[in-house]
Amino acid sequence: MDDRNIIWIDGFLYENQNAKIHILTHSLHYGTAVFEGIRCYKTQKGLALFRLEDHLKRLFNSAKIYFMNIEYSMKELEDAIIKTIKKNGLDECYIRPLVYFSHGKMGVYPLNNKVSVSIAVWKWDEYLKKENDEQGIRLMVSGWMRIDGRTMPVHAKATANYANSALARIEAIKSGFDEAILLNTAGKVVEASAENVFIVKNKTLITPPISSGSLEGITRDTVLALATEDSILTEIRDISKDELYLADEIFLTGTAAEIKSVGEIDNRMIGNGKTGTITKRMKKLFEKATRGNHKYSEKWLVYLSDN
Ligand SMILES: Cc1ncc(COP(=O)(O)O)c(C=O)c1O
Repeated sequence: MDDRNIIWIDGFLYENQNAKIHILTHSLHYGTAVFEGIRCYKTQKGLALFRLEDHLKRLFNSAKIYFMNIEYSMKELEDAIIKTIKKNGLDECYIRPLVYFSHGKMGVYPLNNKVSVSIAVWKWDEYLKKENDEQGIRLMVSGWMRIDGRTMPVHAKATANYANSALARIEAIKSGFDEAILLNTAGKVVEASAENVFIVKNKTLITPPISSGSLEGITRDTVLALATEDSILTEIRDISKDELYLADEIFLTGTAAEIKSVGEIDNRMIGNGKTGTITKRMKKLFEKATRGNHKYSEKWLVYLSDN
């Protein structure tokens, strides 16, 4: 992140080095924050935020699960995001709104503490390793199980859930892989540490159901819609670990990672290890949609110039 960035906190803009929180911030101690990741793309009509409304709805839903009353309306947060991007003078960027229980009363019970909101933006070209020469990234199936809906609300994009993600990702990187896949308590595939997963088998795109315990990814939904519109068959069903090994193609989807093709999993090569035909097609359609060149772009893009 660039040190010159400007960050919005509770209605005020701060220089990066002054965007500070109290050390007794509740969410820092107890993992009680919720957040979003949003991208802003360059289009022929200027900069545009991709599926902003869906991201803000998910943020409010995550907050609802944690009994957080956000002081701002969705429209006010939308305006704050646009203002922060404009103030930073960035073009393509990643936006991170965070809702957290501020400092005040210590102890696990958070509801006496103020609910604060921050918005940071930065340039984030590549989240996962760039696919080199079309060579897909290398995954491992983690020894950590994905948190279970009976233990934590998995549909909230809550910071607490990312302790599980971080452990899996550390394990993968330390073992020489690029990313981790997590299974649920039933041994079925859920998602990667911060992405949803798709396999291609016999020309059909398959992804696990949300009931597997995965986050309801907005990129996942985008891919399903774009594939259907392009007459590519899609299926939502459980996927086992060995099905991953035998897939024709695999790719991951997420706002930060976008669409990343997978070349290897647990040292088994997927296809010929390079980006497969359907993955390439989905990347192309995604690029069109985010850059304003797809028929769905108009419903998915919020242009900064209109605000
Ligand atoms: C655990 C997890 N799954 C899936 C996703 C993909 O979601 P989206 O496409 O909405 O960014 C993310 C990223 O936010 C994530 O953190």
